[in-house]
Amino acid sequence: MNQDLLKQKAADKALEMIEDGITLGVGSGSTVLKFVAALGKSSLQFKDVVSSSEETTAALKAAGYQVRDLNACDAVDVYVDGCDEIDGNKYMIKGGGAALTREKIVAAAAKKFICIADESKAVDVLGRFPLPVEVIPMARSLVGRALLALGGEPRWREGVVTDNGNWIIDVHHLRISDPYALEAEINNIAGVVTNGIFARQAADVLILSRANGEIDVQ
Ligand code: A5P
Repeated sequence: MNQDLLKQKAADKALEMIEDGITLGVGSGSTVLKFVAALGKSSLQFKDVVSSSEETTAALKAAGYQVRDLNACDAVDVYVDGCDEIDGNKYMIKGGGAALTREKIVAAAAKKFICIADESKAVDVLGRFPLPVEVIPMARSLVGRALLALGGEPRWREGVVTDNGNWIIDVHHLRISDPYALEAEINNIAGVVTNGIFARQAADVLILSRANGEIDVQ
């Protein structure tokens, strides 16, 4: 089964778990875009829908949903998003699409985080996927040196500007044995907006689409 189909199956399974009338948060990335397309074909109506990126907002509007500013909403009931890696504690690396900061904000506002992924994203230890870090542009070199001192190999994702007007550094060759501690340590570097470790905002439910066609809900 190809990866596209696996993503579709995870997205369809998530749709089964969504109830009418809730406030729904929607993440970013190719798996989420399949979820949004499936939403558009459903008859589900929501109290409010909030989005974690401009790309997702455009897709939601095309699917017939109005998107609200998070500030205008109470708590988000359910947040559905993909990931770049996820471990056994449902800690994740996110930000491959550069949307990590808004994703972390909506995840923090959510009562329940449903992560949708194909099995290639499941790992024992986070870090094979380069860790995205969103930085204020003037701090790029400063932050890069600090990330080097942490043992990673920082590379500027040149040409990419986030929805917040900032830049992304991808940190290669990190073995993240303590995601909770490293998330805080990197966020403490002056100039870092946030990093793509989601330990404090771990998923509550993982829908993992396996290559053999099975769907694991954990
Ligand atoms: C966006 O910044 C990311 O956090 C995405 O959630 C992640 O990259 C997953 O994307 P795919 O569904 O495209 O693999």
